[in-house]
Amino acid sequence: MRLEKFISLFILISIGVGNTTATTTPNYEDALSKSLVFFEAQRSGKLPHTSNLSWRASSGLNHGSQENVDLTGGYYDAGDNVKFGLPMAFTTTMLAWSVIEFGKKMGHDLHNARDAVKWGSDYLLKASCHLPNALYVQVGNPNDDHKCWMRAEDVKTPPPVYKVTPSNPGSEVAGETAAALAAASIVFRGIDAQYSKKLENAAVKAFTFADKYRGNYSESLSSAVCPFYCSYSGFQDELLWAAAWLHKATKNPSYLNYAKSLGCNADSDSFSWDNKYPGARVLLTKEHLLEKNQGASEFRDHAERFMCSVLPGSPSMSVKYTPGGLLYKMTGSNLQYVTTSSFLMLVYSKYLLVSKQSFKCGDMSVDHHLLRQVAKKQVDYILGVNPKGMSYMVGYSSNFPRRIHHRDSSIPCTNILSGAVSCDAGFQYLHSSGPNPNVLTGAVVGGPDENDNFADDRENYAQSEPATYINAPLVGTLAYMAASVRN
Ligand SMILES: *[C@@H]1O[C@H](CO)[C@@H](O)[C@H](O)[C@H]1NC(C)=O
Ligand SMILES: *[C@@H]1O[C@H](CO)[C@@H](O)[C@H](O)[C@H]1NC(C)=O
Repeated sequence: MRLEKFISLFILISIGVGNTTATTTPNYEDALSKSLVFFEAQRSGKLPHTSNLSWRASSGLNHGSQENVDLTGGYYDAGDNVKFGLPMAFTTTMLAWSVIEFGKKMGHDLHNARDAVKWGSDYLLKASCHLPNALYVQVGNPNDDHKCWMRAEDVKTPPPVYKVTPSNPGSEVAGETAAALAAASIVFRGIDAQYSKKLENAAVKAFTFADKYRGNYSESLSSAVCPFYCSYSGFQDELLWAAAWLHKATKNPSYLNYAKSLGCNADSDSFSWDNKYPGARVLLTKEHLLEKNQGASEFRDHAERFMCSVLPGSPSMSVKYTPGGLLYKMTGSNLQYVTTSSFLMLVYSKYLLVSKQSFKCGDMSVDHHLLRQVAKKQVDYILGVNPKGMSYMVGYSSNFPRRIHHRDSSIPCTNILSGAVSCDAGFQYLHSSGPNPNVLTGAVVGGPDENDNFADDRENYAQSEPATYINAPLVGTLAYMAASVRN
């Protein structure tokens, strides 16, 4: 052991004794591999023979059949059996961004990360192939779906499908779809040029549709999407985000000019499936800092105001932190804000390091070290360095949530029962106090409350439900952390 390492280990241990917080460095590499296994478990459609999970099988093979379109594939967003387009596209964008930024640090998991992107982008290609007439944005009605507690494999009735059209538009979902396709096209550029070009072309079509037929899908589709994935932030943020990704993918200056022309100044301290402003601004600032594109300089202030709104000790901090040190934004699925914020801090740290820049939040100086340190603390908290000593990633360490709100994980699979569990009969497994029979390895749940408490209760979905958009930004963050330990 090198001396510095020994000293830092000693410091960690001493701090740990004072805080009664576990301080062993998490095994980021293990967590990274597991975070990708989760995406396999959320797959809908025909599963490949190489599938790793004995308790999951092909499902939703009739998706789209009512309209004679093929909508098989894609991801279930969380613990139910609906395929929601807006969070699925955002998940795909964040997985792609993870690979673009940190793919070189993923080691043997790079292959799995690309597969995870492709499972999303393949579906989005199908959903967008009817443009400019229609973009399919959802399979399943959440109000009906939530009346059942059953495995995705056992749903036999084709669920309703939803689309946005020129007369019933949805610029948030079309914009996010464009962003996802553009980001995925960058991932596959050096791997499969033809596929990459196909993704780019589809991204352009989705963006044109989003821009030309402006409207909120929340209004067009109302109760099918609200209050589940109702877009509260409107669609300007997705138009900006889509333009940023298309600019990155195509290098066509018209997208940057478009982004500048949107002229929207709203700042936000949350980056999520709903609000894309912080992500778009960080991505555009990358062009300014790393590619010296002066045209993108105006986004930098916004990007740094986001950092200042989430950094502990910053005078303009507007989020809370729990006593145990976790960023706390909202009761429902709080860890999504933790993983998106940590991801942005880490990529911004990288941009600052490479461009030899720093910035200020009032009197507080912020450099790449500080951003990385704050992001690391959040990731470590998720992996068990917290007052409860609990990992919020299922299957990671020995103390993790056992009663997660997830239908397939909580219902014993048909191989065991030799028969489907029906819609109503399944609820016994929701209400059961026992642990889930199928371990949803790698899933990160909604997480603890503002006092670091966690119920491990299946019915408390705000805390115990996993979601693909909680995990997606974590994939990149864990890759970075794993590599920094390796070096
Ligand atoms: C699934 O299994 C294959 C074959 O054993 C392995 O290469 C791959 O890494 C696994 N996928 C994930 C996501 O762990
Ligand atoms: C879309 O929704 C946003 C946020 O609710 C609202 O401000 C905006 O006016 C809506 N736009 C249209 C075209 O309906």
